[in-house]
Amino acid sequence: MSGPAAGIVRTMLVRPAVLEDADAIRTIYNHEVETSTATLDLVPRTLEVQRDYLRSRMGTYVVLVAVDHDEIVGFGSLSPYRERAGYNATAEDSVYVRRDRHGHGVGRALLTGLLDIATAHGFHSVMAKIISGNDASRALHEALGFTHIGTEREVGRKFGRWIDMELFQRML
Ligand SMILES: CC(C)(COP(=O)(O)OP(=O)(O)OC[C@H]1O[C@@H](n2cnc3c(N)ncnc32)[C@H](O)[C@@H]1OP(=O)(O)O)[C@@H](O)C(=O)NCCC(=O)NCCS
Repeated sequence: MSGPAAGIVRTMLVRPAVLEDADAIRTIYNHEVETSTATLDLVPRTLEVQRDYLRSRMGTYVVLVAVDHDEIVGFGSLSPYRERAGYNATAEDSVYVRRDRHGHGVGRALLTGLLDIATAHGFHSVMAKIISGNDASRALHEALGFTHIGTEREVGRKFGRWIDMELFQRML
């Protein structure tokens, strides 16, 4: 074996989510709901809510999972940016990686997959809303070509404090 990958067996794959992935996805997500401001959801998702979320993202909008040795180690999704029809060419992404897998390229693989799909599905741009101070998410998005376009001041509140939201956008 030679080259930079010598000795490394790459086992991770990124694929579209299926309904059977709902429990693993919500376990990763609910951990952030309960312990961080990465999401401003305040109540953990039930299995049924997570399954509905997946059902609504099996066409134009999608959920991808990163799978390593048959374990789901992260997921990412494309969602509608706004409800009104005139916003239909814009999508919003979100990416969540299991805590013990942060910093190993899982987020990059998921967001790369989402951008490929967003391009293939004809979206014009992808938005990301990242809370101020989420350096990992900011770095991930900037690494994949997102630029900072503004700040929504104190639009969120969680754990007893006001939260600024940073808007990032990647034109496709
Ligand atoms: C944000 C998150 C998805 C990033 O995923 P990840 O798998 O840890 O990130 P990766 O290893 O793919 O790194 C992607 C890039 O970000 C950089 N990065 C990752 N973590 C970083 C950190 N804590 N500080 C600075 N840069 C960081 C990496 O250097 C990498 O850049 P490169 O590819 O140019 O070298 C992950 O940390 C996470 O799930 N956080 C909790 C949930 C969350 O905040 N989701 C986003 C909501 S907006």
